[in-house]
Amino acid sequence: MVTQTDSIAATSAKSMSNGGKVLTAVTGGIGLGISIVCASFVAPAFRRFCLPYVPSTAEQVRNVLHFIPRNSAVRVLDIGSGDGRIVIATAQHGVKYSHGVELNPWLVWYSRFAALRHGVYSKTEFICKDLWKFDLKPYDYVIIFGVEQMMNELGNKLISQAPHLKVIACRYPLPNVKPLATIDAGLNTVWFYNLSENNPNSQRS
Ligand SMILES: C[S@@+](CC[C@H](N)C(=O)[O-])C[C@H]1O[C@@H](n2cnc3c(N)ncnc32)[C@H](O)[C@@H]1O
Repeated sequence: MVTQTDSIAATSAKSMSNGGKVLTAVTGGIGLGISIVCASFVAPAFRRFCLPYVPSTAEQVRNVLHFIPRNSAVRVLDIGSGDGRIVIATAQHGVKYSHGVELNPWLVWYSRFAALRHGVYSKTEFICKDLWKFDLKPYDYVIIFGVEQMMNELGNKLISQAPHLKVIACRYPLPNVKPLATIDAGLNTVWFYNLSENNPNSQRS
């Protein structure tokens, strides 16, 4: 015979098991979401050149701006634009076309939102693509905060693909190009190159 106490215990066990299922689904969903976001940050480690997300310091951003004409219609591209701080800074500097190319889609969306917050959305564009496959020809200035291992190959790509470019390199120089100027020392060092001065016959195509 089923007593009233038995029936209350059965109902409570059933509702606890439903609660348990909901809790498992919620924590599982959160865990999966965190893993998906983290995967985008870890993915660069498995590429040929491991270029992790390390944002520029405020001093580094100031040093970059030193080489870019204020309030100009030049086209500037930050390759590996991270959270968009350099692109936003160049737009605030008055550059009409400030673009960033970045592999991590979360950082791309964050950058777009940050540009909106800083009131420079219309002057900026963030593209989610691999920098090695990105067409650099439309730009006048390219900014790179890379890693030492990639700089030689990047220099070759820049010279062969877009020999008209002015290049601003943060923290690591291009070993195969002679800089026109260098600012600061240590982590905030920034090098400025004019590729057409290394190759006087180069023409913008
Ligand atoms: C050192 S951080 C520089 C971030 C930003 N430029 C700054 O100065 O604050 C390099 C960025 O490049 C991105 N990255 C790595 N490999 C890439 C690739 N193949 N194509 C595009 N972006 C890449 C990383 O996700 C990271 O955000």
